[in-house]
Amino acid sequence: MDQYVIKGGVPLKGSVEIGGAKNAALPILAAAVMCDETVTIDNLPNVRDINVLLQAIEEIGAKVERTGPHSVKINGAFINTTSVDNEFIRKIRASYYLLGALLGKYKKAEVALPGGCAIGSRPIDLHQKGFRALGAKCVVRGGLLSVEAEHLAGNHIYLDKVSVGATINIMMAAALADGRTVIENAAKEPHVVDVANFLNCMGASIRGAGTDVIRIEGVKKLHKAEYSIIPDQIEAGTFMFAAAATGGDVTVKNVIPKHLEATTAKLLEVGCRVEEEDDSVRVIAPAQLKHTSVTTLPYPGFPTDMQPQMCIVLAIASGISTITESIFENRFRYVDELTKMGASIKVEGNIAIISGVERYVGARVSAPDLRAGAALVIAGMAADGITIVDDIYYIERGYENLDAKLAALGAKIERVSSEKEIQKFKLKIS
Ligand code: UD1
Repeated sequence: MDQYVIKGGVPLKGSVEIGGAKNAALPILAAAVMCDETVTIDNLPNVRDINVLLQAIEEIGAKVERTGPHSVKINGAFINTTSVDNEFIRKIRASYYLLGALLGKYKKAEVALPGGCAIGSRPIDLHQKGFRALGAKCVVRGGLLSVEAEHLAGNHIYLDKVSVGATINIMMAAALADGRTVIENAAKEPHVVDVANFLNCMGASIRGAGTDVIRIEGVKKLHKAEYSIIPDQIEAGTFMFAAAATGGDVTVKNVIPKHLEATTAKLLEVGCRVEEEDDSVRVIAPAQLKHTSVTTLPYPGFPTDMQPQMCIVLAIASGISTITESIFENRFRYVDELTKMGASIKVEGNIAIISGVERYVGARVSAPDLRAGAALVIAGMAADGITIVDDIYYIERGYENLDAKLAALGAKIERVSSEKEIQKFKLKIS
């Protein structure tokens, strides 16, 4: 199993280019099969979850041509089955986007129930509520969710909870339903807007994405399009917190600063200087970080996907901070790992009470999920001594070349796959 080995204590300095947003790219790839012409997608992050989804799309017969590491052409005209299942697709959360896409286009789909990171129970009842409202029957059997409709018709759908996945899935199916669909209490995340923009480029008629009411006028069919995916706000935020935790000075390039407002606000509260330009954000860490409180919320609130990275900063800030996790109930599993590095954190229900310590001490830790894995890498870079992060498989689901990007900012980090390589790194570093 591959690991990252890190020698901490180096303040990150310089600039880093952010890639395309994984959580926008996944539904956009699924939506690309909804037309029978060639769709070109750019600024695609080259990460494991994306490659798994592309493989699943290819397996059902769509033509998939990788035209570069960050671009792909997809043609859904050749799809020969609406049943999607393989051992890999079962592991990714975004497999469910093929339900909305195929249901819209073929009025039926059968997809392995989603896996993803174990950060909570992650039901998909709201997706099903939406599909049912459009006229589909939903049946779970053998680990697969089948959806089928004789006729998809627009409807009024109220989401009891703000859900990114349900909003996007319903939007995709409704784009090819008869008549008007209104999604109320819709998610407002930038990637929801990006998917709506992409569908509109293909000829859909979607208004209101980015607000909590989305209106969709169903169209008969979609057509070819060329599209470039928005920058990844979570990758950007991860580097911003890495700058803060290591006492660094990092310019994060190719971002939309507006999407980073919640992250920026928290960095200011802990004492960082943040300079925004049109498409970049510079974070300059203070000599001593200050405590604060944060609650995760749907956009424009503070993103749950940034919660572990924020915790890394707070655990070495002066005083007592709190984090309230309001989206997923099981998102503090990294705390035990961070404790091994000297952090002092008590979790009570969905609240973490953090007593800042002076510094982390390197340790062997393991990534419990994608974002927490990245957070532990940040802790390693801020720590005294050597940190080994195991199970980086999770991190590679969503970060492209994390080690190389950090190394370019001065971090001493290497991806290794044996004890021998760890020893070699230690010798080299000393
Ligand atoms: C997506 C992101 C994930 C991010 C999350 C919240 C992808 C592949 N994943 O996940 O990285 O952390 O948004 O920004 O894009 N819920 C229900 N019923 C449902 C669906 C959701 O109760 O049918 C609940 C969830 O348990 C959770 C909340 O709604 O408490 C939000 O989940 P949701 O926004 O749907 O997250 P995902 O789309 O799974």
